[in-house]
Amino acid sequence: MARLLIIHHTPSPHTQEMFEAALDGAVTAGRELEQELEVVRRAALAVTASDVLAADGYLLGTPANLGYMSGALKHAFDTFYYPCLDSTRARPFGYYLHGNQGTEGAERGIEAITTGLGWVKAAAPVIVSGPPSKDDREHCWELGATVAAGLLS
Ligand SMILES: Cc1cc2nc3c(=O)[nH]c(=O)nc-3n(C[C@H](O)[C@H](O)[C@H](O)COP(=O)(O)O)c2cc1C
Repeated sequence: MARLLIIHHTPSPHTQEMFEAALDGAVTAGRELEQELEVVRRAALAVTASDVLAADGYLLGTPANLGYMSGALKHAFDTFYYPCLDSTRARPFGYYLHGNQGTEGAERGIEAITTGLGWVKAAAPVIVSGPPSKDDREHCWELGATVAAGLLS
């Protein structure tokens, strides 16, 4: 069975909307393709290296904080980067970001760390400012569905 791991920091209703849309896209993709897919979600402050090693692909979600990704997602990377470096290369991932004042630093940080890990981007990131619109939620849904479907083909 393929396993998608969602690593997210969700501190507010707007980030919760994005998380729920991405999760729904991933779960629905597995159901519609009639293949077994386990979608595991972990708060970024709780994810372990074992969770990351046990997954086949990743969906990351975070707000921008102080010009970077959230401290929670950075903590997650700090926790699993070296333990997973040798074993997770070439695995697919996607990410969504929410911010209200500029998300460039967060985007740069995620790109740099995932490049270091050797992960392969399976879909364009979804980046939202302010209240997520219907389109934004649909983009999150598609992000989840695309990363999940890539694990099943
Ligand atoms: C301490 C702190 C720092 C933040 N720094 C940034 C930032 O650098 N760039 C940005 O776009 N938003 C920043 N924000 C806004 C958060 O990204 C935003 O609160 C989060 O995405 C949730 O969105 P919401 O408050 O509209 O629900 C910051 C928020 C906090 C609490």
